[in-house]
Amino acid sequence: MALEQTLVLLKPDALQRGLIGKVVARLEERGLQLVGLKMLKLDAKKCEEHYAHLVGKPFYPGLVSFMTSAPIVALVASGPEAVKVVRDMCGPTNARNAAPGTIRGDYSLSTQYNIIHASDSLETAHREVARFFKKEELFSYERALDKLTAAADEKK
Ligand code: PPS
Repeated sequence: MALEQTLVLLKPDALQRGLIGKVVARLEERGLQLVGLKMLKLDAKKCEEHYAHLVGKPFYPGLVSFMTSAPIVALVASGPEAVKVVRDMCGPTNARNAAPGTIRGDYSLSTQYNIIHASDSLETAHREVARFFKKEELFSYERALDKLTAAADEKK
């Protein structure tokens, strides 16, 4: 099991609804380590780059308009198999299909206003982390609790 980094965006609806703290707390309480964290307003260029794979979908213009409508919070979470762990915590894109206990299943009824974006593969995570964070904005540090989040051989 590898130690991975994954990109999380807390979307404008999370900020508008006052849910940033709750969602960040869930990631921390799971044992994930925050290695980068910031608030920003997505500009159209970066938003279009981020969602380039969705150009042509009927919801694409609305998605870009929504994601650039208000600030977002971007963070990088690190942990063993962090990409899958965070995706599972989010639940499916359509929050109406998300199980209670997942972030979308607890806080959303929408496919667009679904609170959170998380990288969908390790390869995507590498690209997305680099899109939002410069090297000097990512921190490497030890926490006392890391001895207890997973055994040493699960974090190589
Ligand atoms: S899909 O259906 O395979 O294209 O979905 P996915 O790749 O998981 O992500 C789609 C992102 O677009 C946002 N969005 C919508 N998706 C589907 N249908 C509608 N109507 C829609 N509106 C917005 C959705 O929230 C996904 O955003 P991210 O940030 O990737 O989670």
